[in-house]
Amino acid sequence: MKILVATTNPGKLREIEQILAGPSIHLVALSEVPPGPEPEETGNTFAENARLKALYYAAATGLPSVADDSGLEIDALGKAPGVHSARWHGTDYAVKFRRIYEGLAERGVSRSPARFVAAVALADGDRILFETEGVVEGEIAPEPRGSGGFGYDPIFFYPPLGCTLAEVTGEAKAAVSHRGAAFRGLREYLLGSTPK
Ligand code: IMP
Repeated sequence: MKILVATTNPGKLREIEQILAGPSIHLVALSEVPPGPEPEETGNTFAENARLKALYYAAATGLPSVADDSGLEIDALGKAPGVHSARWHGTDYAVKFRRIYEGLAERGVSRSPARFVAAVALADGDRILFETEGVVEGEIAPEPRGSGGFGYDPIFFYPPLGCTLAEVTGEAKAAVSHRGAAFRGLREYLLGSTPK
């Protein structure tokens, strides 16, 4: 079964490949198909954006396409950056982290509950075949720590492991992460719908 993974984010692609790749699932990266314009992420929710990206790439490439839309919700900041996580205050994570700590300080707190959410959608032609969502609950770390993972991982403290998601291996992150949960759901769907 050939499936296009509709992401240009190398961190995400690595994590998705680790979970999905297997003998009966052949993943195709966006870099392997002719380049084209990217869809605008106009949805108000992670699920809407995942759906619109999956449908867009299924139509553009003719391949069954899986897309995820994910982000970080920080309770003390009214669930920001949320669906805007990728471009919130630019793309430099040192700047993004500083704005988060400034935002917390302005509200008189140093920590806040937070969660990563990942919505995943699989489209074929003009149909959504499967969709699911994964969540991992944690809190904003007192300071950035670790160099693994990507994006906001260094400031996402995960209490059950006692460290940030940038301080664990890729396997350990996938075992507990929002993306891990969502893509394991997709994997079960795909394996269940494939003749053995
Ligand atoms: P998307 O490509 O529009 O889904 O944007 C996702 C953005 O959310 C990423 O660029 C990161 O900023 C953030 N994000 C999503 N998942 C993770 C994660 O597992 N670790 C750290 N940051 C994440």
